[in-house]
Amino acid sequence: MGNLVTMDDLSNDDIIAVLDDAERLVPVARGEILLPLLQGKVLANMFFENSTRTRMSFETAMKRLGGSVLNFSSVGTSVSKGETLYDTMQMIDGYADVAAIRHPRQGAAQYSADAVRIPILNAGDGAGNHPTQTMLDLFTIRQAHESLDGLNVVLVGDLRYGRTAHSLSHALVRFGASLTLVSPTSLKMPVEIVSDLRSHGADVTETESLNEQITGADVIYMTRIQKERFPDEEEYTKVAGIYKIEATDLVGAKEGMIVMHPLPRVDEIAPSVDSTKFARYFQQAFNGVPTRMSLLCRSLGVKVPKKVK
Ligand code: NCD
Repeated sequence: MGNLVTMDDLSNDDIIAVLDDAERLVPVARGEILLPLLQGKVLANMFFENSTRTRMSFETAMKRLGGSVLNFSSVGTSVSKGETLYDTMQMIDGYADVAAIRHPRQGAAQYSADAVRIPILNAGDGAGNHPTQTMLDLFTIRQAHESLDGLNVVLVGDLRYGRTAHSLSHALVRFGASLTLVSPTSLKMPVEIVSDLRSHGADVTETESLNEQITGADVIYMTRIQKERFPDEEEYTKVAGIYKIEATDLVGAKEGMIVMHPLPRVDEIAPSVDSTKFARYFQQAFNGVPTRMSLLCRSLGVKVPKKVK
């Protein structure tokens, strides 16, 4: 109960309920309204891998709701003395009420959820899943398009190792999206994920070329090539910088189309795009705060009031 390891842990109705709660929490996320729903509760931020937005927005979310945060990182802790993930998580079970965990190993979040009693939120497990990112992505998409249903979404970049694309594609097809997967052959979406997407009845197209996809898209979701997951540097060099969009590439895009990116960007989106009406990635990063507030409340069994004031 309360865990979020993959998007399978949430039904479509759960997703909508979390997004509705998140929407009402926006003024709290901005610090305009004080609402200490999680006073006395402790979040453990367990980051065994680098993070800026995920860790900080979890921390802001918890603090804005009156809770507190224990920040763990694998540097400067007993992990460097050889402590196992199991043992570390046993401690956290006694120190915190909920934990967000990011780990380079796929499956580490499920392993942790099985090892402890407190709810676990998967903040990224290797090339596996990143469901809290998906929730803020869905929040952003719904904000722009008013609904999640039946959109044309183009996912671009490292679809092999990119955990944000894995979780998001799965969620989108459950809402009837048509997906175009744009990647070099070596970074295609894993076949088992593509067949899962198709088993939901989704229209999925795979291609290497981005240019023709721009005019039909409701959402273009750019991703970073996940350098740290490549077994060898030379393979990375072959695909580094392969997709890059500039403001001029977006001439002819649909009026309401949005460009998203989980960030950090390297060179996938030129700064010229930032000042166009299409750019949504910084808003998307902010949306991590209300969305994670809503997810923290759900995990801790705390109801978000129907009227927030
Ligand atoms: C992503 C991640 O860690 O998977 N970042 C994030 O959480 N916003 C994407 C990435 O690192 O490329």
